[in-house]
Amino acid sequence: MPGREAVGEAMRATPRADYLPGPARHRAAVDAPVDLGHGSTCSQPSTVRTMLELLDVHEGQRVLDVGSGSGWTTAILARLVGPAGRVVGVEVVDELVQDAAHRLRRDGLAHASVRVAAADELGAPDAAPFDRILVSAMAGELPDALLGQLAPEGLMVLPLRGRLARVTLTAGHAQVDRAPGGYRFVPLQTSGPSGHRRGRRWPWGREASD
Ligand SMILES: C[S@@+](CC[C@H](N)C(=O)[O-])C[C@H]1O[C@@H](n2cnc3c(N)ncnc32)[C@H](O)[C@@H]1O
Repeated sequence: MPGREAVGEAMRATPRADYLPGPARHRAAVDAPVDLGHGSTCSQPSTVRTMLELLDVHEGQRVLDVGSGSGWTTAILARLVGPAGRVVGVEVVDELVQDAAHRLRRDGLAHASVRVAAADELGAPDAAPFDRILVSAMAGELPDALLGQLAPEGLMVLPLRGRLARVTLTAGHAQVDRAPGGYRFVPLQTSGPSGHRRGRRWPWGREASD
């Protein structure tokens, strides 16, 4: 199935309201980020669509979802890869992981799982390599740790310094293409020397946000 069509179908099969906390559900249809608490948001649907179209996910692939938040993107990705594939979500907020895990179980998406991100590492190196990596938090620089978890010919989409970037790995070389438009996202937390997480708010972009 062509990428755009598949993304639309997977999003329609995964109502956003089902992945929002009760009091926020009335905002599900609004094309804007929705607050999940804990400094996190459920991303803006049009932004998710753009990122997933850039990610070009195929059935049977292994996908890493960095910043799984509500579990909504994890569930959409699970529908894109189908039961022959695998999706691993990582999230720094424990409470969000618990809620997301419950929603994925409820929806019968047993080939998708979510876990709390380890304090001293990005992604899920123990489950690598991944054919695709989706990052839903703003990076200040290309995260080498995630590049190292990409399979050969793999592809990663992430917000990078206010723009969406599509990174392809070919023969060990990372090619970075920037998509048009400015974006705002929750910052990608990286670990400091003692394992403490650091993050900062990136001031760029006003045209769309997470
Ligand atoms: C835009 S929000 C969540 C979007 C999510 N995909 C959804 O559909 O609800 C981005 C998330 O990234 C998480 N995050 C930030 N740095 C992270 C890291 N290093 N590892 C995992 N998650 C991270 C934040 O806690 C936040 O929940």
